[in-house]
Amino acid sequence: MGLHLHLLQAKLLVLILLIFVSKSISTQANFQIANPKCRDHCGNVSIPFPFGTREGCYFNETFSVTCNETHYDLPKLYWTNSTIQITNISLEGQMRVSQFIAKDCYSQNGTRVLYKDPWIKVPLGFTINNTTNKFIVVGCDTYAYVSGYRENRNYETGCTSTCDNKDDLVDGSCSGLGCCQMSISKHVWEVEVTLNSFNNFSYVWDFNNCSYGFLAEESTFNFSASEFSRLRNVEMLPLVIDWSVGDRTCAEARNNTSSYACKSVNSECYEPANGYGYRCYCQAGYQGNPYLYHGCKDIDECQDPSLNDCEHKCENILGNFRCVCPKGHHGDGKKNGTGCIRSDQSFVFKLVAG
Ligand SMILES: *[C@@H]1O[C@H](CO)[C@@H](O)[C@H](O)[C@H]1NC(C)=O
Ligand SMILES: *[C@@H]1O[C@H](CO)[C@@H](O)[C@H](O)[C@H]1NC(C)=O
Ligand SMILES: *[C@@H]1O[C@H](CO)[C@@H](O)[C@H](O)[C@H]1NC(C)=O
Ligand SMILES: *[C@@H]1O[C@H](CO)[C@@H](O)[C@H](O)[C@H]1NC(C)=O
Ligand SMILES: *[C@@H]1O[C@H](CO)[C@@H](O)[C@H](O)[C@H]1NC(C)=O
Ligand SMILES: *[C@@H]1O[C@H](CO)[C@@H](O)[C@H](O)[C@H]1NC(C)=O
Ligand SMILES: *[C@@H]1O[C@H](CO)[C@@H](O)[C@H](O)[C@H]1NC(C)=O
Ligand SMILES: *[C@@H]1O[C@H](CO)[C@@H](O)[C@H](O)[C@H]1NC(C)=O
Repeated sequence: MGLHLHLLQAKLLVLILLIFVSKSISTQANFQIANPKCRDHCGNVSIPFPFGTREGCYFNETFSVTCNETHYDLPKLYWTNSTIQITNISLEGQMRVSQFIAKDCYSQNGTRVLYKDPWIKVPLGFTINNTTNKFIVVGCDTYAYVSGYRENRNYETGCTSTCDNKDDLVDGSCSGLGCCQMSISKHVWEVEVTLNSFNNFSYVWDFNNCSYGFLAEESTFNFSASEFSRLRNVEMLPLVIDWSVGDRTCAEARNNTSSYACKSVNSECYEPANGYGYRCYCQAGYQGNPYLYHGCKDIDECQDPSLNDCEHKCENILGNFRCVCPKGHHGDGKKNGTGCIRSDQSFVFKLVAG
């Protein structure tokens, strides 16, 4: 009986240990992402520096975020004091926000009963990612514009979506029948979506009485006829925004050490393809937050079999690793290389050959 209990306790302990171990492995951020004493989470959203919730925690006011904990469910993260809700921030330079969708609804007699034309304006230096987002419009009596600014110029484009009958709609296809979509230009930082109808939905009202329009992450949307009713209850959809720091090139930014954002000694600077400012990354062999002093930490390749292919022994060195062969062996020690070859063997071989 006593033995049983001990066994049970031991099993429990192992279980608890396992849970702890797997938990610490699964938390992606096993390195520090924010300055000490700074809040690094809001609900399930992490807040890596240069973003921060108060002075001393963010790079500059542009990266200031607010965690609102008064919501009944999870706390929500907002950009500065705006209504833009942030759902994900990556150190690679992207962030995901929830953006309101535009709606234009009609009653059976042709009067407009609901109209929403939301807009979004991101701070200068940030842009709407033009490869992952699309301008998508849903409706059978619909034309829509997206208008705003790219750099300091006006930007306006749009598409038309119609259908005569519910049979026209093709699931999974957004090519003009009940759904149209288009790419947006790069460098766009302010947009508004405007919806319009040709015939106030009078010919299609029995199966479609609203238009919807939004800029959103393309992969999260798949058109089908059921979208007409689903989107009625959707307020917001995810939008990907690119961020960068400063308004200068890497070369210019490096000149001022106090304002240069790539603080970690093992960090590097690059200029993103979207053309604003610069971003930082950790050198090969390092991982972490390049924007923090000591933010880039050495990766121990020896702990992860996918990062090293040592045949015998792996030795971690700063920024890299080394394969070591046992005594009396030579070679590069790598499974995909020469491996470890017994030195005397080749000596004997040579002797025999001689
Ligand atoms: C937090 O959100 C609630 C509900 O949306 C709102 O009423 C409140 O003003 C917000 N608080 C702050 C500090 O933004
Ligand atoms: C944030 O985005 C990254 C990359 O797209 C993803 O791996 C991660 O799971 C996301 N985190 C949350 C909380 O959505
Ligand atoms: C639009 O149609 C839906 C379902 O077909 C209905 O519930 C809704 O009330 C209609 N909207 C208007 C404004 O008539
Ligand atoms: C049309 O319908 C709306 C809402 O259903 C109603 O408020 C309005 O009075 C109607 N207009 C006419 C001209 O019948
Ligand atoms: C979209 O939905 C259709 C069916 O509604 C499905 O056949 C198709 O595989 C889906 N496509 C994606 C990319 O999820
Ligand atoms: C903060 O950084 C942004 C972009 O990274 C820059 O455009 C802006 O001028 C800076 N703001 C202040 C107040 O220094
Ligand atoms: C360097 O940056 C700091 C902080 O942003 C600023 O106060 C200072 O004027 C800059 N120095 C030069 C030479 O531009
Ligand atoms: C848009 O986001 C993707 C990843 O989500 C990234 O690979 C790409 O570089 C971004 N585009 C720009 C212009 O930064």
